[in-house]
Amino acid sequence: MWWRSAVIYQVYVRSFADGNGDGTGDLAGVRAHLGYLRDLGVDAIWFTPWYPSPLADGGYDVQDYRSIDPRFGTLAEAEALIQEALALGIRTIVDVVPNHVSDRHPWFQAALAAGPGSPERERFWFHPGKGADGGEIPTHWVSSFQGETWTRTTNPDGTPGEWYLHMFTPEQPDLNWNHPDVRREHEDILRFWFDRGVAGVRIDSAALLIKDADLPEVGEKTGPGQHPTEDRDELHDVYRGWRAVADSYPGTRVLVGEVWVPDIERFTAYLRPDEMHTAFNFDFLTRPWSADAFRTSIAATLAAHAPVGAPSTWVLSNHDVTRPVTRYGREDSAFAFLKKRFGVPTDPDLGLRRARAAALLVAALPGSLYIYQGDELGLPEVEDLPLELIQDPMHHRSGGIDPGRDGCRIPLPWAGSEPPFGFSPAGTRTWLPQPDAWGDLTVAAQEGDPASTLNLYRAALRLRRALPELGDGPLGWIDGLGADAVAFRRGPSFACVVNAGDAPLLLPEHEEVLLASSPLPEVDAPGGVMLPGNTTAWLRTKTDAAASADSAAAATRPTPSEG
Ligand code: NOJ
Repeated sequence: MWWRSAVIYQVYVRSFADGNGDGTGDLAGVRAHLGYLRDLGVDAIWFTPWYPSPLADGGYDVQDYRSIDPRFGTLAEAEALIQEALALGIRTIVDVVPNHVSDRHPWFQAALAAGPGSPERERFWFHPGKGADGGEIPTHWVSSFQGETWTRTTNPDGTPGEWYLHMFTPEQPDLNWNHPDVRREHEDILRFWFDRGVAGVRIDSAALLIKDADLPEVGEKTGPGQHPTEDRDELHDVYRGWRAVADSYPGTRVLVGEVWVPDIERFTAYLRPDEMHTAFNFDFLTRPWSADAFRTSIAATLAAHAPVGAPSTWVLSNHDVTRPVTRYGREDSAFAFLKKRFGVPTDPDLGLRRARAAALLVAALPGSLYIYQGDELGLPEVEDLPLELIQDPMHHRSGGIDPGRDGCRIPLPWAGSEPPFGFSPAGTRTWLPQPDAWGDLTVAAQEGDPASTLNLYRAALRLRRALPELGDGPLGWIDGLGADAVAFRRGPSFACVVNAGDAPLLLPEHEEVLLASSPLPEVDAPGGVMLPGNTTAWLRTKTDAAASADSAAAATRPTPSEG
């Protein structure tokens, strides 16, 4: 049951480490730094797509699901990497992208060539336009990348042809999941990677695969499961099929869904025992810095997961969202894609302080934990990239209003005092430029500083590993510490207290402070130790008999066999 408590580190391959000196991260770079991930204390790595791709959407436009992009390496290197990581106790999770393929994928190329009415086109959503000359778009569904979701093709004789559906960019045509070839192919892709020893898959855009074949406009049909492109009930059958494939392998091969579904009951429906194992908990990630918002989100998340028996996941960021250091330093610190703008002020010191406190909060919550590369270094979002270097289609499709996601995808700083900070050999231009001021944020600089964010993460993950009450299991709220506190106990003698306000609060009685995200005042206040604002502390408390009973009950609960 490793996955119920796992710490999973997300590697954005292009920006982790460059092994061949071309300015882009690659598998050689990852292999060279596996020791770093072992020392950090992670249980698994999730790799963002590493397949051959024109990179119209950073690799989420896949040309061949069974190979590695030559810029990143070879399949043999990926196989070696999976084994080397395993030898260090680190499992591998690969990213599969089932909703769409690259427009260079052989299926789409064949569909374009075969023309209207061909079986090749049935694997996608080709459709005649409306109106006398077919010039009107089939539906007005809006892309999550803004703009229209259909592009018109040109027939071989040069006349305007059918339209095809793409929920993202035109370079990412959507597959038709009602077609048996599509289902078979993806189950086969799962087997391909499971056969190579991967421990799980992260399922991209998992709630979008099925579309209403009647092509209604949004809102024409109402009620749960009736949206034309999102969270349709038929999806569950797809994931039951995937679960059967995963379960046919020894050990647990996990399905981790990227499920952006706001209704928490509909979200956890994907986690029923014969569907996915876990899904990213985006509810927490979108919440502002507020004790009330955190408590509400945590309580609702735990309550909704309990009936399906799935563990929660905790995610502060990923390659799509604003880095916590920058987000939590803003006056409005809630996250929403459509809110992203240039020039929104942030207080980086406050943001870092809160991001560190948030890291200890999520690491103490029940379930599995995701860490996006660079968060352990406290990297901020880079918000002043020269416009002409921005690659993300979210920026371009917004007409330049949305800064896009490149600011959280900057190559990691490893060592040294100037770019490329050991990411690439000295003098190399990295695919996105790093800020000159990142010298203090490098891994090398932080390793030598006991108070660094890297050392805070290392200490937290070490404790999480050492304390059996952390990870999966029950949580008991501690009340009475005031409106700004988020406080709970795990097991009989561990407590986590977050002070999300600015004024200090009195910590509850404890025997020892195990870890704190910011220094605690040296002089004890009358009555005990004060927890400063925007800080989290992990405490060893006196053994609580009621909590011991909870944990004993949890420990004796029957669980599926270990994998
Ligand atoms: C979600 C991925 O995380 C994101 O990066 C990508 O652009 C979309 N899905 C489309 O594949």
